[in-house]
Amino acid sequence: MRKKIIAGNWKMNLTFAEAMALADNLLDENKNIDDVEVVLASPFIFLHPLINRIQSNPNFSIAAQNCSDKIKGAFTGEIAASMLASIGVEHVILGHSERRQLYGETNSMIAAKVDRALENGVFPIFCCGELLAERNNNIHFNVVKKQLEESLFHLTSNQIDECIIAYEPVWAIGTGVTASFEQAQEMHEFIRSTISSKYSKSIAEEISILYGGSVTPANASELFDGDDIDGALVGGASLKEKDFSDIIKAMLTKI
Ligand code: 13P
Repeated sequence: MRKKIIAGNWKMNLTFAEAMALADNLLDENKNIDDVEVVLASPFIFLHPLINRIQSNPNFSIAAQNCSDKIKGAFTGEIAASMLASIGVEHVILGHSERRQLYGETNSMIAAKVDRALENGVFPIFCCGELLAERNNNIHFNVVKKQLEESLFHLTSNQIDECIIAYEPVWAIGTGVTASFEQAQEMHEFIRSTISSKYSKSIAEEISILYGGSVTPANASELFDGDDIDGALVGGASLKEKDFSDIIKAMLTKI
């Protein structure tokens, strides 16, 4: 069975004390959650202390929110995937729409980041998703297919098997407008069938596909009914211990 994953993307929020308190409360509240993996994607400077904290709970893991497309060297301000690996970071979010839109990341740059991550044993959480105008023009499937093709489909079967995919329609991120169950399930099914055509049905069946975009305790349960929706990548609601724990609970009831 595919892994069920609830990931919190803290983005550029929280002080050190707030981040540690949030992690401690989440660890305390979610002790027996076998079969759900909880991923906390924190700013770089909180990663190391978080890794120490989650040792007590095998269901928790830590993600970075980005890494460099370069191996190492004179790239001031960048963080290499090898550095993440060296402190035990398991996952890295790559291709988030905020990185694409605000920092000019292209599909080919993201492909290089995916390579750096996998070379170092850090598993990518690869984000894809269309803009509102692209959905309104009915090209959302083409947009997502191109993102997959240009950033992931150079990988071998063994490599793609190590990736998690997050479908995050850009119009649903931070807007309070979530994709309907039908819109999310339809795109997840499309992503899985696209992977199946390129690789194989068995590979496609093994890859967890998360939904992201205004996920809350109120809409999580319905989304998790989708056969191809294996969890969530949560932004705003992941900053509130109760909301995030309730989203984890919503997934636990489906297992
Ligand atoms: P929101 O849940 O705040 O819409 O953010 C989603 C997101 O971007 C997660 O990566």
